[in-house]
Amino acid sequence: MNNKPFHGTFSSLALRLDGDVNARAWAVHERALAMRRRGDNVVLLSIGDPDFRTPDPIIDNAVSHMRVGRTHYSPALGELNLRRAVADYETRVSPYSCSAENVAIFPGVTNAIYSVLACLLNAGDGIVIVEPQYVGYPPITKALQLKVQLACAHSNNAFTPGYDDIIAAINDDTRLVFLNTPANPTGAIIDKSTLAALADYCLQRNIWLVCDEVYSMFTYEKKHVSLRSAAACLDNIVVIDGLSKSHAMSGWRMGWAVAPESVIHHLGNFSTMSMFGCPQFIQDAAAFALNNDEYYVNEMRDRYAKRRDAVCRRLDDVPGLSYLRPEAGMFVMVDVRAHCADDTEFASRLLDAQGVSVLPGSAFGQATEGHVRLSLVQTMDVLMDGCSRLQRFCSDPT
Ligand SMILES: Cc1ncc(COP(=O)(O)O)c(C=O)c1O
Repeated sequence: MNNKPFHGTFSSLALRLDGDVNARAWAVHERALAMRRRGDNVVLLSIGDPDFRTPDPIIDNAVSHMRVGRTHYSPALGELNLRRAVADYETRVSPYSCSAENVAIFPGVTNAIYSVLACLLNAGDGIVIVEPQYVGYPPITKALQLKVQLACAHSNNAFTPGYDDIIAAINDDTRLVFLNTPANPTGAIIDKSTLAALADYCLQRNIWLVCDEVYSMFTYEKKHVSLRSAAACLDNIVVIDGLSKSHAMSGWRMGWAVAPESVIHHLGNFSTMSMFGCPQFIQDAAAFALNNDEYYVNEMRDRYAKRRDAVCRRLDDVPGLSYLRPEAGMFVMVDVRAHCADDTEFASRLLDAQGVSVLPGSAFGQATEGHVRLSLVQTMDVLMDGCSRLQRFCSDPT
């Protein structure tokens, strides 16, 4: 018997993913959670998980499907019933009809993005991503060894990326442009003419155009414009969406990609290899949710809008803070530079002094440095308490 200790090695993929690229940004949030566990009264405004319960009819639907035995393997691309429900939704919100053959189901938007990029790109390929960007994107581009070309959206344009900013980031290596509208963290919406012009440009240059639209159902004054509804031709277009935010179903893991059939074909192979299908009863409940969503999506949207308005009113009273009133989504970006140039330091001191946890804007890229992100996924009382504490901190930061 050989007593030599085992020294297993790890793949370069595993090592690339080791250590959170945003560890500094999440440090405040982690500390806030630890303080809470200790019993401290902490207001947590650093998360993006809806505080609403998944509506009861959706839960009942899942339970009843479990009871009748919908607990077996499911096709890799998803249950036809759900693929049809997604296609019907897409047909309702865009001028093009969409069929189930254009839809692939995934366990959440994150997995859909990873699968789509893995099927469309090789290591070393260029991908244009708009900054500020959602913190979930860098680990995916890192895993796939993509060459990231950043296009900056600026605060003087409400963080909305312009056509010229995105085109300027494209070069000969670019194989794919990745958009997020409405955006996390800023709530910025890319308008229809910009989407249409980008779709046309990318088509001419043989470049894929992929859009994460997970906040599509949470726009306030303006209606959401999907990339699919703006593009004149859908051959190079992939739209990704899901139920995590819109239906308060983050823990159910339910997302999808809508794409040309050739893309769906490869996504099917990829899903067979990596997941072998999503749970049947969750897909059944997701189809039910999409087919019956008018009431509860509207109600949640109204409540987020009221929270946004109340938080913005309170921020108006805090000297030295300015903010971007979001057009969509569940976050408010607050410019804290008049108080502290370093957003992470501001967030850390705010937590120590007043027990409020916010996410430093630098987690999303250079464009949002000097800002902090306040999330609206708390009750009105908690949000108002958080605003009062923030006000006290800004009046007396010690
Ligand atoms: C822009 C964006 N895309 C994707 C996700 C992840 O979605 P899911 O939970 O469905 O994986 C989030 C979650 O916060 C997000 O903000």
